[in-house]
Amino acid sequence: MGIPRYIALAISGGSMSMLDHLLKHFPQHYRRHSQTIDAIATHQVWHIPDFESAPLDLAGRLVQEDLLLMERSRQGYRLVAASLCFPLRWRLREKLGCPLTQIHAPVPGYSEKLAHPVDSVFNRLKSSHPVWRLNWSIVESPELFFPPENAKPGWETTINCQNAGDKLFLRMERQTLRRLATSGDILFTVRTYVHPLRVLEDNPQMAHNLMETIQQMPLEMQNYKNLLPIQEVLLGYLEYIASFKHL
Ligand code: HEM
Repeated sequence: MGIPRYIALAISGGSMSMLDHLLKHFPQHYRRHSQTIDAIATHQVWHIPDFESAPLDLAGRLVQEDLLLMERSRQGYRLVAASLCFPLRWRLREKLGCPLTQIHAPVPGYSEKLAHPVDSVFNRLKSSHPVWRLNWSIVESPELFFPPENAKPGWETTINCQNAGDKLFLRMERQTLRRLATSGDILFTVRTYVHPLRVLEDNPQMAHNLMETIQQMPLEMQNYKNLLPIQEVLLGYLEYIASFKHL
């Protein structure tokens, strides 16, 4: 699938390119010479003209986020290009070219409950107003990349309410959507964070909210999120830390 020709990955809806944005707002991390851009922390140097036909590739090397480009089509917005490092058990090759409903086919209730509101967010999105959402998962390791071959997590059999805080991990994806000012396409970004579940010990209210969310979740969604085998231990642990009171 060809990557669109335009290079302007506009941020915040203006005409500023992503390179200009990074150089202006993060001069401590990036340095520009005439044909190159340096990522100072990693000592990587990228020759900008090498990426003339693959701007998303350069963008993906410069920032932590996964970047997915959505283009309007008769079937709704579809995925046309991506720089992806950290999918959680899904394969880019199976989603590329697909519209949103097909991408989300494995997600229980998506077509009935979410497809319409999501389409409406996409259609109304203004380049001046990017939006964001969070997605959470409980996973068995702190890895960022989960190969799709391991469709189900290999939960350790030794997990119990005492050690769940160290053996289970909270994976948060901060996702943003922004309309690119030049092309009108939509850039979907995903920044992935992983912490041992014990981070919630500092936030009993959040542990309580997560416990309630899981308790109220339809069974097929709990199954999709692979929570059923650890449900008892997980809820027991969350209930325990939700009872903490700050001094
Ligand atoms: C407002 C926009 C969006 C919403 C509300 C949304 C919602 C969701 C939800 C609820 C899930 C299930 C995840 C979980 O609970 O663990 C999901 C999964 C997923 N979403 Fe989205 N999504 C949005 C945009 C996108 C976009 C633009 C893409 C572009 C590729 C995308 C790709 C995926 C993929 C690949 C999965 C995993 C599907 C699988 O299991 O095969 N989503 N999304």
